[in-house]
Amino acid sequence: MWTILTRERQRLSRDIHDVSGQYIVSILFRLAALERTVTDSRLLAHFSNLRQTLTRFSEELQQIATGERVGVPLGYRLVAALADLIGRWEMEVEIEARFRHRGMNRDLDNRTAETIYRIVQEALTNIAKHAATASAVTIRLRRMPDSVSIVIEDDGRGPDSAIDTARARRGSGIAGMSQRVAELGGAFSIRTRPGGKGTRLAATIPLVASPLQPVGVTR
Ligand SMILES: Nc1ncnc2c1ncn2[C@@H]1O[C@H](COP(=O)(O)OP(=O)(O)O)[C@@H](O)[C@H]1O
Ligand SMILES: [Mg+2]
Repeated sequence: MWTILTRERQRLSRDIHDVSGQYIVSILFRLAALERTVTDSRLLAHFSNLRQTLTRFSEELQQIATGERVGVPLGYRLVAALADLIGRWEMEVEIEARFRHRGMNRDLDNRTAETIYRIVQEALTNIAKHAATASAVTIRLRRMPDSVSIVIEDDGRGPDSAIDTARARRGSGIAGMSQRVAELGGAFSIRTRPGGKGTRLAATIPLVASPLQPVGVTR
């Protein structure tokens, strides 16, 4: 079984490398050609940004294929990593996002941190994609004695019909978020406010029993 998995992973990793590599190199070449025709410094800055994003995407895709932990912070770095992610998102989409956190000055296990990070990433992507009318977003992260919760609210126009978590398309963002939370024994919900005024996503994850150590003491 193990060798089948390993072989399958190697095949996947190779295919992703070869296929994505081809496309990415071709896009980078076209970008470079476009860049040479441009003199406007603001446009040039966008081009350079695009190239960096693409390079990062390509590296992370490759790491996923080889089964490496990718682009996610370790538990004790979660707040800083989220602040960074949210700041970059704000600049890119020009929607104001407020980030509040409480009780997060203690270490968090890596899997919980990864789940929270992925949820915020996907929720922000969804807001940019589906709620472009949003003008404000609030992200609240809170640690309670035996659980940690994340709530993300936007004031954009919600979807036309209720979002059904249980029936979300396989492999879709919402199904993925909900599965990640369920795997950790937590609760997940996403709702649109009445009158199509914004969407609220909430997840609560129970903390695994571990000695509570203030950040900085253990590393
Ligand atoms: N913040 C949001 N505002 C409005 N609609 C949303 C929001 N988040 C999710 N949706 C709706 O839920 C659907 C499912 O989201 P998701 O599972 O992430 O799939 P995808 O983003 O690939 O469409 C979206 O297509 C969209 O209609
Ligand atoms: Mg999505």
